[in-house]
Amino acid sequence: MYEDFVKEIVDGYIKSSTADHGIKQLHTMHKEAVSRTDPVILELGVQTGISTKIFLNAVHRGSGGQLVSVDIEDCSHVAQSSKWTFVRSDSANVENVLNTAPVINSGVDILYIDSLHHVDHVRKELLGFFPYVKNGGVIFFDDVDSIPYMRGREKDNIHTEIGNRDILNFINEVFEDNIDKLYLTFERGSTGLIMLQKCAPLGTKLSSQPQLRARKSKIYWKYRRSIEKRLRRLGVSIS
Ligand SMILES: C[S@@+](CC[C@H](N)C(=O)[O-])C[C@H]1O[C@@H](n2cnc3c(N)ncnc32)[C@H](O)[C@@H]1O
Repeated sequence: MYEDFVKEIVDGYIKSSTADHGIKQLHTMHKEAVSRTDPVILELGVQTGISTKIFLNAVHRGSGGQLVSVDIEDCSHVAQSSKWTFVRSDSANVENVLNTAPVINSGVDILYIDSLHHVDHVRKELLGFFPYVKNGGVIFFDDVDSIPYMRGREKDNIHTEIGNRDILNFINEVFEDNIDKLYLTFERGSTGLIMLQKCAPLGTKLSSQPQLRARKSKIYWKYRRSIEKRLRRLGVSIS
């Protein structure tokens, strides 16, 4: 299913003579999906269905896989498959999604977060659906790099630049707070792709305890220079 569509992506990645980070990121998601037998995939954000078709291609390679896609708009026309359930809903409304697609209760292999790109919304999606991700399952996040939206870049846009950075900082904090149950990989360039792999049993929640955050570089160097100055005045040698 959607073989030609996927072939274009794979060929685009392998044969491209310049770095095309967007294509590489689609290729990464497809590779992950086809590496799993009969995966259950939950996709948040459908629009024209690029990711939907990539995941359906992977799901159709076996017999028991399922794709559940959620969007606040009616995107039910973007694909057709007996293995596809489209749920029209706010993707942060976990209860509504679970009621419409109960297959999620038995565990998700891949969760793809690509709906409303605001940190509060992403937080609700991640914390809400994380317990339903299987041990060894992965969570992909799109729109986590600000590069294309920075001043003078091809999509120069302050709103998306700052929004994407907020999401990236949030995911980094989640990783810091839950380092015992997560692996993190980050493909930079284009809109960016983060993959979190869950290393904890189905049902495990993410800890959202506030932790001490990184110490500020400017404050540290200012403090350090003033100490050094005082020690020099006292004739104490500093290594
Ligand atoms: C970036 S697009 C998704 C692109 C898609 N994953 C792809 O690769 O083709 C974002 C989608 O999120 C949807 N969306 C926006 N706010 C939402 C919300 N609160 N709940 C669910 N979907 C939402 C939009 O309608 C839009 O279709």
